[in-house]
Amino acid sequence: MSKLNGKVAVITGATSGMGLETAKLFLNEGAKVVLTGRSDEKLKAVESELSGDYLLVAAEASSSADSKMLIDKTVAAFGKIDIMFLNAGIFRMEQTGTLTEEIFDEVYNVNVKGPLFTVNAATEHLNEGASIIFNTSVTNVKGFPGMAAYGSSKAALRSITRSLAAEFGSRGVRVNAISPGPIDTPIYGKHNVPQEHINEMAGSFPSMVTLGRFGNSSEIATVALFLASQDSSYITGAEIPVDGGFAQT
Ligand SMILES: NC(=O)c1ccc[n+]([C@@H]2O[C@H](COP(=O)([O-])OP(=O)(O)OC[C@H]3O[C@@H](n4cnc5c(N)ncnc54)[C@H](OP(=O)(O)O)[C@@H]3O)[C@@H](O)[C@H]2O)c1
Repeated sequence: MSKLNGKVAVITGATSGMGLETAKLFLNEGAKVVLTGRSDEKLKAVESELSGDYLLVAAEASSSADSKMLIDKTVAAFGKIDIMFLNAGIFRMEQTGTLTEEIFDEVYNVNVKGPLFTVNAATEHLNEGASIIFNTSVTNVKGFPGMAAYGSSKAALRSITRSLAAEFGSRGVRVNAISPGPIDTPIYGKHNVPQEHINEMAGSFPSMVTLGRFGNSSEIATVALFLASQDSSYITGAEIPVDGGFAQT
């Protein structure tokens, strides 16, 4: 039996990686899915991979005006919301000394302000029993060179998970996070991270991860499905590490 039959799900950053994989799984599980991306072109490019009841919305993750537009379009198309996967995020690796305010602001605007204000815009439109899922990172508990901005943005998101869980608990709305370790997605090739840093990281990760390999997006999607569905009905305020043991051993 489908786990999300008739549920309305919003997934931000669904044109690639974990968001796209989760959108496909949720559609297969019977949900009506709103997928966001940076542009109509990027959204159109993934349409051939989708089947079911879905809506594509171009929305800049760091824009609270776009967040409001996203929620308005979702409610107009499908009604109230049952699931939000706040997944859109950017990765920046910048050593302290060369970190600029511009990079810091971009990371915080996309990774922290964006998810929080998307939920902010949706509060009145959440069904009782709704499930909100943030996508954090192993870097919110482990220190790595160059991660002061990125890691702390994800730590902020971890904190927001706890605060919103406390705020929404009385409405039966659950708020949790997934904390991925190194997952093989296009993220590492984006956002001007120098190729030598990507190669360095890719080389060192397998030996640092307990399971000795990168994870893949479907290993995140199945955990998102668990948190979105009634299978996790008594879990809120939690963060599930999906990191191959990276931060656990
Ligand atoms: N991959 C990892 O190892 C890893 C580890 C820990 C945490 N995470 C987190 O997991 C989440 C998903 O990452 P991923 O690895 O699946 O990366 P990805 O393949 O790059 O996917 C990220 C998605 O977010 C979208 N996005 C980024 N910035 C946006 C913006 N300003 N406005 C609208 N959409 C935007 C991307 O759109 P575009 O296609 O236009 O870029 C894409 O759809 C992120 O929050 C990331 O920080 C990743």
